[in-house]
Amino acid sequence: MKTTAIVLAAGRSTRMNSKKPKVLHPLLGRPMAFYALEAAGQASGAKPVAIIGHAAEMVRQALGDMAEYVIQEPQLGTGHAVQQAEALLKGQCEYILVTTADMPLLTGETLKQLVQAQQAHSGPLSLLTATTQDARGFGRVLRDPAGRVQAIIEEAHATPQQLAIRELNTSVYCFSAEWLWQALPRIPLSPKGEYYLTDLVGIAAADGLSIQAIDIPDPGETIGINTRLHLAEAESLLRQRINGGWMLAGVTMIDPQSTYIEPSVSIGQDTTLWPNTYLQGNTSVGEDCTIGPNAILRDSQVGNGCRVLASVLERAVVEDRVDIGPFGHLRKGAHLGEGVHMGNFGEVKNSYLGPGSKMGHFSYIGDATIGENVNIGAGTITCNFDGKQKHHTDIGANVFIGSDTMLVAPVKIGEGARTGAGAVVTKNLPDYTLAVGMPARAIRKLERSD
Ligand code: UD1
Ligand code: CA
Repeated sequence: MKTTAIVLAAGRSTRMNSKKPKVLHPLLGRPMAFYALEAAGQASGAKPVAIIGHAAEMVRQALGDMAEYVIQEPQLGTGHAVQQAEALLKGQCEYILVTTADMPLLTGETLKQLVQAQQAHSGPLSLLTATTQDARGFGRVLRDPAGRVQAIIEEAHATPQQLAIRELNTSVYCFSAEWLWQALPRIPLSPKGEYYLTDLVGIAAADGLSIQAIDIPDPGETIGINTRLHLAEAESLLRQRINGGWMLAGVTMIDPQSTYIEPSVSIGQDTTLWPNTYLQGNTSVGEDCTIGPNAILRDSQVGNGCRVLASVLERAVVEDRVDIGPFGHLRKGAHLGEGVHMGNFGEVKNSYLGPGSKMGHFSYIGDATIGENVNIGAGTITCNFDGKQKHHTDIGANVFIGSDTMLVAPVKIGEGARTGAGAVVTKNLPDYTLAVGMPARAIRKLERSD
């Protein structure tokens, strides 16, 4: 019994007061529509169809292959919007789930329950309703004295008695596809010049068909976003949901309110997140770590037992028992081996630091490969850029780089070598050799035990 979801996303949404289409405003780092598409895909088991219109190209580009796209131009209402998918979907599926792109908190689980309810229902449609004191401008569900659903009345057209109804239409439906396609052309033009999808409820009732209302247990899921106030409210609820899940899974948060975890992140057991921590994009943090306060980790992989204090990691890989910060910056391609210590004001880009190596203070390491147990003295710089090109620095195991050394790349420092404070190294340094000065000269061979 194939089901396909249609996600309505063509509207203009003037109340956001934005140059950007509403459905692309981010919630925890993802465009709002991402959540509706993901939930719709989960519930239907198929790629959803997004109806786009306002800023269609921009929306399509941002959402990519999460959906198939159908253009609605001009936008003549929700009924008209669904009708645009007929050519693509007619005869392709038995059920059509309809939802909107501006309800990011609605879960795949809830949508699946609606689909299952319709699959077990003899009538042509099931609608998701919310019963809540705050009507939020939603359409009201009208029932006859016997309690049968008769119609949806839009708030703008409702009488005072109808406005008092607290059973609300969430704009989420599951239809028998065959019935839907024949019923859509029967929707009349509303006084506002639109074709309301909600009128299908009245059409089915007039034909004596049964309409099933599925009341959502948590009306908070149906918060629709029409303004930036709603956006902030939804983001906060989404964050609570994500943070709550991680706390139950064994992650400690000192202050969940100021902990920002995006949906695709993973975190190991007994890790503690201090306030003002941001885990973004494709980031994973292992077990027994302490992250923050004031840490931003974006698209980075952190092993077990690490500590990241007041630092920024972007597209970095950090192995077990590494400690970073305060005020460290790992950039794209930084890779710290097991047990590395990176103290304050360090920056590492496109470089590997071997196990047990230390860079305690004020260093820049870029485009370098560093062996194990290397000590990088305070203020060391890899001079990797000659104004035109980037060059590589190679540092062998057990090297001691003296404070304030400039390593002018391309350059290679042999295993066990040392540089004196303030050395400017412009030539390769052999293994077990001490070099000093500007430019640095080798002055003696070292004992392996030095
Ligand atoms: C709609 C329902 C209302 C329900 C409410 C819940 C109708 C007529 N009313 O009202 O009963 O309580 O949702 O949120 O359906 N859209 C298009 N093309 C259009 C018009 C709208 O794709 O031509 C999209 C919008 O982008 C939006 C969704 O459909 O994602 C809902 O449209 P909107 O104008 O917000 O409808 P509401 O007034 O909220
Ligand atoms: Ca709306």
